Amino acid sequence: MRMKNESQLTRLGLFDARVPRYTSYPTAPQFSDSVDSQNFRQWLGAIAPGDRISLYLHVPFCRRLCWFCACRTQGTSSETPVLAYIETLKAELAMLRAALPEGVTLSRLHWGGGTPTLLPADAMRDLAKTVFDITPLSDDAEFSVEIDPNEIDDARLDALAEAGMNRASIGVQDFNPEIQAIIGREQSYEITRAAVEAIRARGVKSLNADILFGLPNQTEQRLSDSVQQLLSLSPDRVALYGYAHVPWMARRQQMIPSDTLPRPEERLALFETAQKLFSWDGYVDIGIDHFARPDDSLAIAAKNGTMRRNFQGYTDDPAQVLVGLGASSISRFPQGFAQMAPATSAWSKSVQSGEFATTRGHEFSGQDKLRARIIEALMCDFAVKTDELVQDFEADRTEMNALFDSVAKQFEQLAVHTAEGLSIPVAGRPLTRMIAASFDAYAMAKSGHSSAI
Ligand SMILES: C[S@@+](CC[C@H](N)C(=O)[O-])C[C@H]1O[C@@H](n2cnc3c(N)ncnc32)[C@H](O)[C@@H]1O
Ligand code: SF4
Repeated sequence: MRMKNESQLTRLGLFDARVPRYTSYPTAPQFSDSVDSQNFRQWLGAIAPGDRISLYLHVPFCRRLCWFCACRTQGTSSETPVLAYIETLKAELAMLRAALPEGVTLSRLHWGGGTPTLLPADAMRDLAKTVFDITPLSDDAEFSVEIDPNEIDDARLDALAEAGMNRASIGVQDFNPEIQAIIGREQSYEITRAAVEAIRARGVKSLNADILFGLPNQTEQRLSDSVQQLLSLSPDRVALYGYAHVPWMARRQQMIPSDTLPRPEERLALFETAQKLFSWDGYVDIGIDHFARPDDSLAIAAKNGTMRRNFQGYTDDPAQVLVGLGASSISRFPQGFAQMAPATSAWSKSVQSGEFATTRGHEFSGQDKLRARIIEALMCDFAVKTDELVQDFEADRTEMNALFDSVAKQFEQLAVHTAEGLSIPVAGRPLTRMIAASFDAYAMAKSGHSSAI
């Protein structure tokens, strides 16, 4: 069965394609300099007073720089640049206060990076207080933080728990020591388990973990062992990302010999091995690369069809606006996307001169929102309904039917067009990003996109 499906996937180009992960449409490489701080201020000002928004704070520093990591972050052994960065972030938050309408509250607050947990405990308290003075958390809000188990201690966890963190996201990647050595990320099972226990001891209700498939020298046996070890920690939610090897963008990855990487067909087998183990343990599949306990809020949203996709991946956040602060962060508004200057120096200079550092973005026009909806629906639900597109976007039914017909033909039985709309059956799900890319009106062959599986 696997062989038959694999040969069809090969014919359809799965193992050669490089496609975006569609955490936005258009994707960030398509942004231009047509959006600036004026747009950003206008879009903030258009939020309705008393509305709920979400806030992402980016901390682009790490104590160690793992070779596999493609995130934009800088290594530091000193606190000085980190504390200077936090002061600038507080100045940016003060500018946000001045630009936001009255009474706005937060439906989600996320601290990501890099490694936000390298902040000293006092700086964490100070940053949380600055945020909540401007935009308090609304009832049932979620405050999540990315935690490197190697870069956390009791004092910092106390500070985060007191500030109201109720979801922690830990980076695991793989537990195998040989793989850890080759990807430049050492982290024993004991360290990870101690972090998980310390997080739970503070009453933090939900725990996410990131794990990778497609790593150098990874075999099905080794990945099974890692997944079993992860399952012994009972995470509520797991992201199983495909390792993206993009050394032309993330230069640290040049440390990883490319001849140790599994072939694309092997990557698919690795994914399916892990997927099976999660399912045997009672986790449900969510979207293309997540697994969760059935009572997890994302699993419930996926079941109800209310799950969405944003820059952090899958979310059940209902807010229409996501504001990103910090260097390189991206905001989403009903009007479009706005990105801050990627370099910390350029971002700091702008904020210190009293202006937001928005340098790029995209203002929605034409069919952008319609296509964004199709892509988001395929990535979240593996299905898009024609009626909804006609109703919500005044899409032309004949045009939609023709488009869905041609995609269904291209992907044979692995994308199905019916009177209801377009759907992707289980056998076609490895192709989801490629099928979604059929609706991307912008050029997609840009570097930085990872392989389709
Ligand atoms: C911004 S990192 C933050 C995690 C935190 N600093 C840590 O190390 O635990 C978020 C996640 O991105 C994922 N990631 C980083 N580089 C990746 C790559 N090249 N391919 C796929 N996923 C990657 C990793 O799973 C990582 O846990
Ligand atoms: S994986 Fe985490 S700690 Fe390692 S370089 Fe990336 S962001 Fe930093």
